[in-house]
Amino acid sequence: MENLNYYLILKYFHIVFVTTWMAGLFYLPRLFVYHSKVKSNSSEYKIFLTMEYKLLKYIMNPSLVLSWVFGLLLVIHLEIYNELWLNLKFSMVVLMSIFHMYCARIRKIFESGMNRNHEKFFRWINEIPTILFLIIIFLVVFKPFV
Ligand code: HEM
Repeated sequence: MENLNYYLILKYFHIVFVTTWMAGLFYLPRLFVYHSKVKSNSSEYKIFLTMEYKLLKYIMNPSLVLSWVFGLLLVIHLEIYNELWLNLKFSMVVLMSIFHMYCARIRKIFESGMNRNHEKFFRWINEIPTILFLIIIFLVVFKPFV
């Protein structure tokens, strides 16, 4: 029972932080879509900068770290080091983390007023976390190759 509780607590926090991380990853590129449409000397431009900064700093960055922490604690607790579904999931989560860092870079480019990408570009990259998300959920639910 003690073990079961520890497992469920880890899984509870894992799912909570994964959800807040995903919410940010879906929303931030959307903000870039609208941000790319306004002039860099406008007051709207500054509002978008604040929204992006706060979303990354207070929601997305802590959620990324805590998703990893609780995910890795689950791996250690379950002692599953050699499962193919988990290794595949791991690769997808690494790609998701790289996408997160790429978004952080785009935010800095907006901050310096040097963005040259158009709305369409941000609409396209918006699909990247969606695709990765669908694959990850497939892997955790169906656990193929087990
Ligand atoms: C950050 C690195 C991650 C690691 C190391 C990791 C690892 C794990 C492990 C070991 C489990 C327990 C599986 C089980 O109970 O059989 C789990 C559960 C889960 N993970 Fe992750 N995970 C990570 C990130 C993510 C991400 C990014 C998502 C979603 C996009 C996600 C979604 C889930 C879900 C929904 C479950 C519950 C599955 C179930 O109850 O069967 N994980 N994760």
